[in-house]
Amino acid sequence: MSRVYFVGCGPGDPELITIKAKKLIQKADVVVYSGSLIPPPILKLCKKGELYDAAGLVREEIFDLLYKNAKSDKLVVRLHDGDPSIYGAIKEQIDNLEKNGIESIIVPGITAFLASAAALGTQLTLPGVTQTIIVTRAESRTKVPKREKISELAKHKATLIFYLSVHLLSNIVKEAIAGGYTKSTPVAVVYRASWDDQKIIKGTLDDIVKKVRAEKITRTAIVIISDVIDPKTYEYSKLYDKKFSHGYRKAKVK
Ligand SMILES: C[S@@+](CC[C@H](N)C(=O)[O-])C[C@H]1O[C@@H](n2cnc3c(N)ncnc32)[C@H](O)[C@@H]1O
Repeated sequence: MSRVYFVGCGPGDPELITIKAKKLIQKADVVVYSGSLIPPPILKLCKKGELYDAAGLVREEIFDLLYKNAKSDKLVVRLHDGDPSIYGAIKEQIDNLEKNGIESIIVPGITAFLASAAALGTQLTLPGVTQTIIVTRAESRTKVPKREKISELAKHKATLIFYLSVHLLSNIVKEAIAGGYTKSTPVAVVYRASWDDQKIIKGTLDDIVKKVRAEKITRTAIVIISDVIDPKTYEYSKLYDKKFSHGYRKAKVK
């Protein structure tokens, strides 16, 4: 059966690509890639294939490229930054390909929020602080269901992560406070995580807008609101506690 590979190539650092993704790009006859978020060294892996930048194409044009080439048994890669399943608009293509007899294989990649956590040198869940991560976006032209309003999500006081939203930071801050976060809640904005020009801006809900404005960051950033960024206290893990037994280790102290 003819197929298309939807491949994630990670957040930017060319070494943060999986071996599977690298091999597919190297062997591909056709690569349709997601514009400026794919670093040049990754595109250079595609030695023999034709490269198409999806940034200038609409859904139907992308579909035609994927369909026609897969149908002629070429190795077709739809290359996404980060992970294809996160704000990647892949489902509409996968369903359409399936209707036309083409199967899709997804190869996961490291998504931007994980590269951002690494850049911050933190852990996104901390015992005694939060055990939950919420990944969302602020509403703009793409509507967000009412039940997912930022002020509703904020009620959980979990680690709240925003894609595609840094240009809407002042709305995010207003709604996060309306939902119950205090003004002193830590916020981090990571611009182009893992790229050479990565920037990290840390502040609180009270001052982050000013700080991000001063850096003129309006795109390609992850916003994280959470006490885990700068925790006042947290608890040690149970898993590595000397009094804790589990399937692979008995407690070392009673
Ligand atoms: C269309 S979404 C694609 C996300 C991608 N599929 C992923 O898993 O990371 C584009 C958004 O991802 C975020 N993004 C992508 N790469 C990033 C990076 N290296 N650093 C920070 N944010 C990034 C930004 O919020 C950007 O607006």
